[in-house]
Amino acid sequence: MDATETTDFIHVFEPGSDAGRPPLLLLHGTGGDEQDLLGLGRTVAPGASLLSPRGKVLEGAMPRFFRRLSEGVFDEDDLRRRTHELADFVIWARERHGLEAPVAIGFSNGANIAASLLLLRPQVLAGAALLRAMSPFAKPPQADLTAKRVLILSGAMDPIIQAEDAERLARTLSENGASVDHRVLPAGHGLSQPDIGLLRAWLDQA
Ligand code: MLT
Repeated sequence: MDATETTDFIHVFEPGSDAGRPPLLLLHGTGGDEQDLLGLGRTVAPGASLLSPRGKVLEGAMPRFFRRLSEGVFDEDDLRRRTHELADFVIWARERHGLEAPVAIGFSNGANIAASLLLLRPQVLAGAALLRAMSPFAKPPQADLTAKRVLILSGAMDPIIQAEDAERLARTLSENGASVDHRVLPAGHGLSQPDIGLLRAWLDQA
């Protein structure tokens, strides 16, 4: 594989000051970019190294991490390819910056590719916080997720993610061995203050 093809994500890397914290891989939602979740990362894990790539797929002018055919209907071939591309980027960044395996924090489309990373390339991540995620695969692949911690935060009034989709994702990850904490908050698709508090507490428990 050509390294330049796999590592050329536009991204921000902010080195951390607290070696006790795992690095965070920040994955934005549709229409976001590499700047979007930096503030969240600094708030929930002060001193952690932050690695924040921009999704390479454009839907109109909106960056995403993989193609979709319509809302909630994913191009799974593209999802697989993009997941491996992102995994290879993370491996490259870890080597370049001397990082341990990161914990992903993904929002919406970023949460969905983080779930896909867990299922297709579990060794790349130490764990993941999936904010407003759904199950990215119709038939999820098997993976060994023993010892991976996963937080799923769903919104009870989310008009984009169906409750059963998030539950199916939680079930899939648990059945593959992950330690899953799934909370449903009185919120919509956007992040709320309780999301931030729960995320911070979950990261502090690591
Ligand atoms: C997706 O496409 O990944 C989900 O529908 C969430 C979104 O980005 O709107």
